[in-house]
Amino acid sequence: MADELDTALDRAAELLRSARSIAVLTGAGVSAESGVPTFRASDGLWEGHRIEDVATPFAFQRNPRLVWQFYNARRANVGTVKPNPGHHALAKMEGRWGENFTLVTQNVDGLHRAAGSRNVLEVHGSLYRTRCTGCDEIADRGLEPLGELPTCPACSALLRPDIVWFHEPLPEDVWEAAALAAHRADVLLVVGTSAVVYPAANLIPIARGVGGAKPEPGKVIEFNLTPTEASELADVGVYGPSGQTLPRLCERLGL
Ligand code: OAD
Repeated sequence: MADELDTALDRAAELLRSARSIAVLTGAGVSAESGVPTFRASDGLWEGHRIEDVATPFAFQRNPRLVWQFYNARRANVGTVKPNPGHHALAKMEGRWGENFTLVTQNVDGLHRAAGSRNVLEVHGSLYRTRCTGCDEIADRGLEPLGELPTCPACSALLRPDIVWFHEPLPEDVWEAAALAAHRADVLLVVGTSAVVYPAANLIPIARGVGGAKPEPGKVIEFNLTPTEASELADVGVYGPSGQTLPRLCERLGL
């Protein structure tokens, strides 16, 4: 098993050494070792809640108090956690590739930025931000307690978390930048995601150039505990906790 992991890490490092442009897609698994629950594990966030009750626009119309309870609990949790070595490893890699390194995250916990990553595209929004249901103003509220039903300081309408819920489109500019980064990438790292939520999971076929959209197909390297929906399109699978495997990859790259 250890040998398999070493071989996979060697192959991953080799692909990265010759890459000019790198994109990364992360999911909840990258933050698991920081103490942020994932969604689909047996003790995950969706286990105690029905998506239809807390993560759709209809849920918010029906019972905003319940939705805010869910997100206030997540905001409080994020206030107690820190980035783990997996987040730090990705920030180091950005240091090496600079503008040719784009980190696309489905996570709303802000831990990539806290670890020092700068070129971060948060395609599912952020727990730090609110959006006004009246005047649409988006505000960075940090992790200050917001109360049960927070209202807009400007227009007094109800605020909602600035999170992309099921049945809602992704912010267009953020998604376009993510798709372009995947399209340009020589290598896409897919870290800690079950790769079942779209359109985020589409970044994997986009990077591979499925449909002939790229002259030279990008390589895909998956980092997860186990194979996932993404594995079929992955050239290399690195299976183990990303808080351990990503730093080992950095060591191989001399970072
Ligand atoms: P999931 O909970 O679906 O998947 C987490 C993945 O992380 C699984 O494949 C785990 O095997 C893996 N994992 C767990 N611990 C890990 C570790 N230490 N190292 C590496 N991998 C690990 O979470 P996401 O794929 O992020 O959307 O879910 C995608 C979206 O669905 C979320 O952004 C959220 C959710 O519904 C919205 O809320 C809009």
